[in-house]
Amino acid sequence: MSLAMARRFESDTFDQSDSRLEFFDDHPAVADVRAEVLEGLGRAHKTLPPKLFYDARGSQLFDAITELPEYYPTRTEITILREHGDAMADLLGRGQVLIELGSGSSLKIQTLLAALQPRLYMPVDISREHLLASARALCERFPALAVHAVCADYSAPFRLPLGPDEGPLAAFFPGSSIGNFEPEEALALLRRVAERLGPGGRLLIGVDLRKSSERLEAAYNDAQGVTAAFNLNLLHRLNRELGANFVLDDFSHHAFFNAEHSRIEMHLVSRRDQEVRVAGERFRFRAGETIHTENSCKYGIEDFHALAARAGFVPERVWTDAEDLFSVHALRLD
Ligand code: AVJ
Repeated sequence: MSLAMARRFESDTFDQSDSRLEFFDDHPAVADVRAEVLEGLGRAHKTLPPKLFYDARGSQLFDAITELPEYYPTRTEITILREHGDAMADLLGRGQVLIELGSGSSLKIQTLLAALQPRLYMPVDISREHLLASARALCERFPALAVHAVCADYSAPFRLPLGPDEGPLAAFFPGSSIGNFEPEEALALLRRVAERLGPGGRLLIGVDLRKSSERLEAAYNDAQGVTAAFNLNLLHRLNRELGANFVLDDFSHHAFFNAEHSRIEMHLVSRRDQEVRVAGERFRFRAGETIHTENSCKYGIEDFHALAARAGFVPERVWTDAEDLFSVHALRLD
């Protein structure tokens, strides 16, 4: 299998290579990660962006989270996709260029490939090794599928290796990763997606629904401590990549439902007064002070439709599970 390794976005024209598996590397530079981390830790309420969870180890831990008994979103969404794949294809179209944001292990798309038969599958993910391994495995499993994988940070404006006339585009944004963004940021992201898809574009997006705080909090505080390990792994990554000296035992995982903002918040709580060095700078932590590492916003169906509409999307159809835990929306651009 030929693979154009790490093709870079050096020009704005992309050659139309016909190799079935290609990899485009637009991963953020270490300097950008460093600047973002220092900015976040310098705030009055310290914060780090959740995209930093997904180093190689973090991606493995996330995959383990998706199989936990308490973590209902992944298995519920997969059930919905399996059950309604044909109806989804009727709305999304077939034989199109299909872009997936936050493709991870590319497991969910496999439930739709038979129905959609995309001309080209373009997974976009920030976790480079994980993306590459998943793209390779997918190509082997689906010998007729063309896969052009893009390593990029979709939370910022990003480029895709697509010519101007690729026909109608479809995007798949599963997992309720849109929930990582506060509503105004989510709107900005949806607007960028809308602009990239253009008129006639289609978006299939998974959105976790509001529910009891008990159910939500259990999903982010699993008994085996995998979510805690996932959260703490962020500090391990900063130690390794930015020469930080966090002592992992001096921080603990805290996740709770913030009803006012309808979101799960994840934090790393300092267990004592301490000072930590990160990329040559010093940061003081009081005992109990936190680093806010993730928001996971939960929506009602109408709220999400209103948000999508502000980005120019027309809601076509929504599917949920029998317990109304999770929703998958087909949206259209006129
Ligand atoms: C991948 C952002 C959808 O918010 O549920 C899982 C990440 N964090 N457990 C989520 C996550 C802790 C997940 N998303």
